[in-house]
Amino acid sequence: MSGVQYFRGNDAFFEALPQALLPASREGVVRILMMGDVVGRPGRKIVKSVLPQLKHRAKINIATINGENLAGGFGITQKIFNELTAPAVGIDVITMGNHWCDKPEVHAIRKSGARMVLPQNLKNLDGVTVIPEFEIPNSRRRLAVVNLMGLFAMKHEYNDPFEFLESVKSTLEAKVQGGQCIVIVDVHAEASSEKQAIAWFLDGVAAGLVGTHTHTPTSDERLTRKGTAFLTDVGMTGPYESVIGMSLAGSMCRYFSPKQKKPQEVSENDSWLCGFLLEVSEHTGLTLAAHRLQYREDTEEWTLRTVTPPAAKT
Ligand SMILES: [Fe+2]
Ligand SMILES: [Fe+2]
Repeated sequence: MSGVQYFRGNDAFFEALPQALLPASREGVVRILMMGDVVGRPGRKIVKSVLPQLKHRAKINIATINGENLAGGFGITQKIFNELTAPAVGIDVITMGNHWCDKPEVHAIRKSGARMVLPQNLKNLDGVTVIPEFEIPNSRRRLAVVNLMGLFAMKHEYNDPFEFLESVKSTLEAKVQGGQCIVIVDVHAEASSEKQAIAWFLDGVAAGLVGTHTHTPTSDERLTRKGTAFLTDVGMTGPYESVIGMSLAGSMCRYFSPKQKKPQEVSENDSWLCGFLLEVSEHTGLTLAAHRLQYREDTEEWTLRTVTPPAAKT
């Protein structure tokens, strides 16, 4: 495993980035950037300002976010969906979570057949169990996107994500081994244990898995011997000085003076952007190297940690 690297300023980061990535001469690498919950206007702003350059400089084929908190922290609107999926910004796929239906427009977005994925274990929603596949630019494989709600400490009830995975695993495996797909997974859950158990269940099938929902990045990125990269929570992209993206005033009141019932609002402070960059073999559909990325708007500081598989036992 390589150590954590820090860079001050975009120029320093983007100059060093090629050395952290697999060599350009290595053929057939598909780069997939997975980001977590993007929170409100500040989260959208940092995505719009950083992603186009990051996508270009790292030669990222396809980029995903979790969109459950895009609109004022709660849900998604058509306007925001259009804005972020415009080629000039470059979000290709949006997964969702427990706030998926906070804005009613989500149903129109879904019906338009666009690039939004709802958790496949939502209850009583027609067609939701289908795992959608998306074209990956410059790859003959397609991207199969699994999105699941965890069960622990959730307000609403969901179908069992573990049962669902047992029912689809062999099909996904055949698509990976047959050269048709690369599989990525967003597990939207409170409990680290649920997310890690799912990652190990899909070992050698999924190229990458990120946990989302806690809005708090973990630093336990791993790449298994079989080529599955995972990170228990990739962390939100949103205001840094905040409580999971929300303003300090509203959050303090919520916990310390709950009787006052102040509305929860997204903080307007500077953001950080958190992501997990996968370098996937076009040949096997599994991951060769993965990188945890974080960027702080206020200090212009980048953090990069590359993870490679465990050394072979002698
Ligand atoms: Fe969230
Ligand atoms: Fe959530």
